[in-house]
Amino acid sequence: MKVLVTGGLGFIGSHTVVQLIEDGMEIVIVDNLYNSKIDVLDRIESITKVRPTYYNADVTDKEEMEKIFAKENIDSIIHFAGYKAVGESCVKPLMYYRNNLDSTLTLLELMEEYHVNNMVFSSSATIYGLPDSVPLTESSPRKEATSPYGETKVMIERILEDVSKVHKEFNIAILRYFNPIGAHKSHLLGEDPNGLPNNLLPYINKVAVGLLPYVNVFGDDYDTPDGTGVRDYIHVVDLAKGHLLALRKLEKNCGLFVCNLGTGKGTSVLEIIHDFEVATGVKIPYKIGPRRLGDIATNYASTDLAKKELGFTCDFTVLDACKDGYDFQLAEEKRRSK
Ligand code: UD1
Repeated sequence: MKVLVTGGLGFIGSHTVVQLIEDGMEIVIVDNLYNSKIDVLDRIESITKVRPTYYNADVTDKEEMEKIFAKENIDSIIHFAGYKAVGESCVKPLMYYRNNLDSTLTLLELMEEYHVNNMVFSSSATIYGLPDSVPLTESSPRKEATSPYGETKVMIERILEDVSKVHKEFNIAILRYFNPIGAHKSHLLGEDPNGLPNNLLPYINKVAVGLLPYVNVFGDDYDTPDGTGVRDYIHVVDLAKGHLLALRKLEKNCGLFVCNLGTGKGTSVLEIIHDFEVATGVKIPYKIGPRRLGDIATNYASTDLAKKELGFTCDFTVLDACKDGYDFQLAEEKRRSK
């Protein structure tokens, strides 16, 4: 099977590409390096001993994408490419709507034209907004998102539903990710954002290696056991496996399929800091600060559907993910200092 992976050099994309190659699939990556580095291609090759076909192209550029569809005989698509910074999306909403919607529309039009029927789409638990109850099941209501970024995910889910209604031959998996963390065991792939990290684990990692003085804990007055926010942190290698399983499901002509990818377990900010210290032996200083705008108290996934429909279970714990993420960060700092 030949799979087009948009955003295949990014954090989740690169881990998924490794697993697909290891499963024997042929990979075509399209990535414009907006939020990724070309080195990742070499690293994928050094892990798998296979160099995937790579195009430096923008998925919103239909002409360029059409050339790729005409040349490569694509069977399935995994669409990761997109802007994903919640805060930035509030400042530059147009940029987010244009990019995230346009890229998906381009792919859908080319799927029609070139009779490519299978797509996996990267959605997010952000579509559940402020949940009425947890765990979140796939039938929990989709709420108004708390950012333009989140709203693009809500809109794209709706577009995919509408397209599925008329294209009965399309098989589309909407995967709703909870909080992906961790890194590949080779320490060659991981999450390494430029500048000040927005997300918790990249921030903790920078504190752990001494690049930042302490973690700001955004609020300890939530209605949770220790007052800090509770999330469902899933190891990125487990998340990547979910994509492989979703592709297999699409091959069975399942039509539209919507599924959470999480662990089913909530962990608070203070628990994660503690787990990180246990896993790595590094002390993490922190200060309690005010709540961050748009944050919710608790979300974690119901994993029943993923288990039933995909046979998905997690192989890794939060402790494993903390250790792998930290080891990647250390290795990355070492590579940078050379
Ligand atoms: C956010 C996005 C989500 C996106 C995910 C990517 C929203 C509302 N959330 O999730 O869509 O998929 O990033 O991984 O759109 N925290 C701190 N200090 C920090 C950073 C975070 O205390 O420096 C806390 C937050 O308040 C939260 C938890 O840590 O309780 C996790 O935050 P974060 O890693 O940013 O992820 P989310 O906000 O859950």
